[in-house]
Amino acid sequence: MERVTESEVVRGLTEKANRVLPGGTFGNFPSDVVIREGRGGRVWDESGREYVDFLLGSGPMLVGHAHPEVTAAVQERIARGTTFFANNRWGIELAEAIVEAVPCAEQVRFVSTGSEADLYAMRAARAFRKRDKILKFEGGYHGMSDYSLMSLAPKRPGNFPQPVPDSAGIPRSIREEILVAPFNDLAAAAAMVREHREELAGVIIEPFQRIIPPMPGFLEGLRKIATEHGIPLIFDEVVTGFRLAYGGAQEYYGVVPDLCTLGKVIGGGFPLAAIAGRADIMAHFDRNKVGDGEFLMQVGTLSGNPVAAAAGLATLEILRRPGAYERIFATGRELMGALGALLERRGLTARVTGEPPLFDVVFTAEPVRDYRATLRGDSDLMRRFNALLRERGVLKGESKYYVSLAHTPEDIRHTCDAWASAVEVLATG
Ligand SMILES: Cc1ncc(COP(=O)(O)O)c(C=O)c1O
Repeated sequence: MERVTESEVVRGLTEKANRVLPGGTFGNFPSDVVIREGRGGRVWDESGREYVDFLLGSGPMLVGHAHPEVTAAVQERIARGTTFFANNRWGIELAEAIVEAVPCAEQVRFVSTGSEADLYAMRAARAFRKRDKILKFEGGYHGMSDYSLMSLAPKRPGNFPQPVPDSAGIPRSIREEILVAPFNDLAAAAAMVREHREELAGVIIEPFQRIIPPMPGFLEGLRKIATEHGIPLIFDEVVTGFRLAYGGAQEYYGVVPDLCTLGKVIGGGFPLAAIAGRADIMAHFDRNKVGDGEFLMQVGTLSGNPVAAAAGLATLEILRRPGAYERIFATGRELMGALGALLERRGLTARVTGEPPLFDVVFTAEPVRDYRATLRGDSDLMRRFNALLRERGVLKGESKYYVSLAHTPEDIRHTCDAWASAVEVLATG
């Protein structure tokens, strides 16, 4: 019998993907990588190539792929039914774990994706404030809703506070409902809040925007101005929740919002996300509390799914153990330091930016404090660097390294070798 080689398998799958999927992908990642499996901090593609994985499924796999405890929890759950559309012990216990961990979280509503969580958080702010407009920050990612896809990644930035839609198919009228401010510019954001205070329902922000940390005083100042005007402050913690600290960015930076959204880590690799926050705002999800007129309609087939919740609970249990965050931060710090040193040694103009659990390089000489600074980075060089790393067995997203608890000293060594070799190629032409 003729043997089908692994590269033929990949070719076959890619051809099929190109036929049945628009762009040949699920919309997430280039079609030339087809992942077969993951374990710990590594993944393998269908051709058998092994990678140190900094994509981490775009972040959920903080404790590593196929962690034995998460797998066991999920297997036990799956054998007893996978979804009920009703309260279940695992979802209730996960909500309790979130309330115990996250400073702003008095109550929790589950949904299936971060996009939904952000959409409903904004809706909750509107229901509470009885106003329509939302202030967001340029370059801030809040999922894929019509409201969120404003000035996420404009090629040509607009004039603040006017938003630039990121997608076709968004009604023109939505533009009227979103104001855009520059990240890390407190004076500009505060002026916008003051000017539009009578129309503003809420302010939504990634407290750590993509890979850009907040400058000292920025989140504190935003908190103060939002409080002054009674405008709910929403932290999008879909990425940062349970990652920058067990209590998320609000614990890490010491600024507590009124509402937050969570996703990725809390689902342990399954579709689960949440809106959490002040009980008086969350009350809008409860018809009995607020009455018909102020009730916020929200239903989802898989909300609080027991398998996802069991995976999330097992993940949080691992993260609660002494030393978990110390290890993630130590790995990240070592990686960030090594990357910065390598780039500097070879004379490449670059900034390594982020926090240890989540960082990347921007090929620019200027400090990276906002979206426009990332836009001025050399994106061709970035693309080449990422491609060279892929060839050298390091997988990452376009502009992010997600560090895992499962990354080992050997993974770090492999990554540093790949960086050294790729930087050499970039530096020599
Ligand atoms: C900060 C942030 N918010 C929201 C989302 C959307 O989450 P999801 O992809 O689960 O819809 C993402 C996704 O990466 C994100 O990074």
